[in-house]
Amino acid sequence: MKQHDDAHGDSMAELAADLSVGEVARRSGLAVSALHFYEARGLIASVRSAGNQRRYPRSVLRRVSVIKIAQRMGVPLAAIGEALQALPSGRTPTVADWRRLSERWREDLDERIRTLTALRDQLDGCIGCGCLSLKVCPLRNAQDALAQEGPGPHF
Ligand code: FES
Repeated sequence: MKQHDDAHGDSMAELAADLSVGEVARRSGLAVSALHFYEARGLIASVRSAGNQRRYPRSVLRRVSVIKIAQRMGVPLAAIGEALQALPSGRTPTVADWRRLSERWREDLDERIRTLTALRDQLDGCIGCGCLSLKVCPLRNAQDALAQEGPGPHF
C-alpha cells in the first residue's frame, strides 16, 4: 500500500509527515548533494524545522521521480522547472499532470531523435571524407547557417 501511495498520491497523514534530506535521499536513491542542487534550482522546496533542519513533504518523492525521468529523457532542468512551476500552486504532478507532461516530453524526444538521426546520417557521409568544407560539408554548414549570416564571403 505504501508503494501505491508513492506512485499515486499521498494520504493526508503522510503529507504531514515531513522527511529529512537523508530520508529523501535514501528513499529516492539520489545523493543528498543532488537534492540540494534541485532545491537551489527551485525544483523542490523544503521548510525548516525548529532545529533549523530541512524538512520535505512526502510528495517530494514523487516530484523527484518526475525530475529524474525528465532528465533521463534529456529535458533541460530549466524546462523541467518551468513545467513544474506551471502546475497550479506549484503542486507535485498528479496522474493527469504527468500524462500531459510526459506527452509533451515525448514529442520533444521524438524531435531530438529526428535531429540526431539526421546528424548521424550526415556524419556517415563525412566519415572518410575530412574536407570540413563550409560549402560542401552538411555538418559544417547545417541547414541555412550561411544564409542566416547574410550575403558575402564566409570563412
Ligand atoms: S567532411 Fe567532407 S562532407 Fe563532411
